[in-house]
Amino acid sequence: MTDFSNHKRYIMQPDDLNIIVEMCKLMNTAMHYEMLLQTIIDYCTRVMQVEGASVLLYDDKQDKLIFHAATGSKSETLKKVILNTDEGIAGWVFKHKESMYSNDLEHDARFSARVDKFTRFRTHSLMATPLLLENSVIGVFELVNKNAPGGFTERDLMLCEGMAAHVALAVERVHLISENISVSRLAAIGETVAGLAHYIKNILTGLEGGAHLIRAALKEKDHATVEKVWPMAERNIDRISMLALDMLEFSKKREPYYTRQSVASVLNDIIQLFEARAKTNNVKIETDYDTSIPDCYFDSQRMHRCLLDLVGNSFDACKKISNPSIRLKTRRPDAHTVSIEVVDNGSGMTQEIIDKILMSKFFSTKGSQGTGLGIPVVRKIIQEHNGTLEIHSEPGKGSTFIISIPLYIDNPYKRLNNQ
Ligand SMILES: Nc1ncnc2c1ncn2[C@@H]1O[C@H](COP(=O)(O)OP(=O)(O)O)[C@@H](O)[C@H]1O
Ligand SMILES: [Mg+2]
Repeated sequence: MTDFSNHKRYIMQPDDLNIIVEMCKLMNTAMHYEMLLQTIIDYCTRVMQVEGASVLLYDDKQDKLIFHAATGSKSETLKKVILNTDEGIAGWVFKHKESMYSNDLEHDARFSARVDKFTRFRTHSLMATPLLLENSVIGVFELVNKNAPGGFTERDLMLCEGMAAHVALAVERVHLISENISVSRLAAIGETVAGLAHYIKNILTGLEGGAHLIRAALKEKDHATVEKVWPMAERNIDRISMLALDMLEFSKKREPYYTRQSVASVLNDIIQLFEARAKTNNVKIETDYDTSIPDCYFDSQRMHRCLLDLVGNSFDACKKISNPSIRLKTRRPDAHTVSIEVVDNGSGMTQEIIDKILMSKFFSTKGSQGTGLGIPVVRKIIQEHNGTLEIHSEPGKGSTFIISIPLYIDNPYKRLNNQ
């Protein structure tokens, strides 16, 4: 077991300083915040010559320690492991707020073999240090299996503590930034509340009128009127529930729920939904599907949501056009991408309107008939699929919206988790 009395006597060497300086530089790179933590622990794994490094974070709601980021051959399996706060060496370090290492785990009573059993990994030596932020422990940083004769040393412990300070800051940065994103999304909704309230009031007025007519018709047993008014009431209910879903969608980040689907079948569902409206407004709906596109993995429900808005917008844009038509196309621009195009010959948009839409503020030209939430929600869903949304439009000629997403033939979750 470690004799900690030597620890404070270690004098830093120039090489050690280089490592700490490198870490400081990493912290300062303009890297995507989610990548930063992983890059830092990749670096620690390399310079400390260990088989793996991991970050466990304390979850106060569950009172558990959860593997948040890891390197090494078992990194993805590890991320599914949850520890009790008094379990194993991580638990000991968390409770005691003290660093430790052991090169002889078989004889260390604090070590729990449960994680090794789950990941089918053999831990020989381990170093762990608390992640401290303003004196409270937010988690534990661990290094496993030192690839050097004799195992971990006092020098390693000192470096590990230096690294843990950076890891804790990186974790805090991830939290702050993701919190900030949610807050600014909610703030954006807040800013547009007046417009939304107007939109809701409009729907409710329609609903109230409909309810009044239906009540009177029921009294008179006038089924013909009930049948005529009911679809209008249903349309208003759909509009209000869509608005609630959009607000929810926009307020937080979500991972796509990947299932295997045919892209064309999602488009066909949309066509079915718009069939009656197409007939009433004389809009021709055409399809042009690339039949070589295989079924692939995407979040079909949320893709449905995107297409519902894009096709709905095309219908709105076709209101005052002679021979209105909407074309739904699928394409495979390259082996790894699938694209869906919504093309209309409607009113089109000026560059100024396109710029306003892309600024991600809720912009609508439909007055109280629009919320301006549609395209921001579409863009968010597509971004969460690692895809892109292109807009091409010319006033008086029409518009083309192109969604492109990675073509996943295999389940991307399975691939990521190496199952
Ligand atoms: N296909 C289209 N043709 C012309 N204008 C469009 C089209 N799609 C979107 N727009 C413009 O973009 C605006 C924002 O659309 P969206 O975010 O869906 O909100 P909403 O439909 O509630 O107005 C619309 O109000 C309209 O001015
Ligand atoms: Mg819309």
